[in-house]
Amino acid sequence: MSDGQTTSLVIDCQKVTRTYSEGPETLTIFSDISLQVKAGETVAIVGSSGAGKTTLLNLLGGLDRPSSGHIRICGKDIHQLSEAGRARFRNQHLGFVYQFHHLLPEFTALENVMLPCALGGMPPRQARPKAEQLLQRVGLGERLRHKPGELSGGERQRVAIARALVNSPECVLMDEPTGNLDEHTGEGIRALIGDLRDNSGTSFIMVTHDMTMARSLGRVLRLEQGRLVQEA
Ligand SMILES: Nc1ncnc2c1ncn2[C@@H]1O[C@H](COP(=O)(O)OP(=O)(O)O)[C@@H](O)[C@H]1O
Ligand SMILES: [Mg+2]
Repeated sequence: MSDGQTTSLVIDCQKVTRTYSEGPETLTIFSDISLQVKAGETVAIVGSSGAGKTTLLNLLGGLDRPSSGHIRICGKDIHQLSEAGRARFRNQHLGFVYQFHHLLPEFTALENVMLPCALGGMPPRQARPKAEQLLQRVGLGERLRHKPGELSGGERQRVAIARALVNSPECVLMDEPTGNLDEHTGEGIRALIGDLRDNSGTSFIMVTHDMTMARSLGRVLRLEQGRLVQEA
């Protein structure tokens, strides 16, 4: 592969294995997983509970270290970085959305979305308009001053999505973002993600149980018995 192609990969995961040692036993969650995600591409990862989806996503996001293999994010081997360097890299290049929103309860929607900017050292006068614009984009322009407790489940996930996008990351990693929502609300989030996918250069990697969501995103991969296989 030429350098040009290599650097256009947002995620380049080569022969990654994750094992856990439990006393004398070694538990292999998956082995020799390779996955390449290009700029602007969306990938869904499906698989039964316990298959290792969250473990894989944590590796792709630099939150966990592979037992063997290499992971490059935007051309960078994140495990060569210091802990602080890795945190800074994640803040600038990646966004995260989880099943539970993880918003700060004492902060408004706007403040929650501004937080990754503040962590990256951006002054509030610059962060505020970005956060406002994103909250408008996810349909919450009228909810800027609401705290998480004053929002519905779907609205909280919209805030979490806006927060994940505020630093214009190359890639957003999502772990079952609709897993905690009813079908109708989940459909709204699915449509929003489709819209964001079509109108930004951001790559999305999503773990989901929802096959409609998975198929609507494009490439679907299944994690099964420690292997990642293309879903027919
Ligand atoms: N810290 C850990 N120590 C030992 N085993 C773990 C740890 N974290 C996850 N596992 C095991 O890894 C497997 C995959 O877990 P996970 O990635 O959470 O699956 P999924 O997200 O697909 O439901 C499970 O069998 C789980 O018990
Ligand atoms: Mg999981």
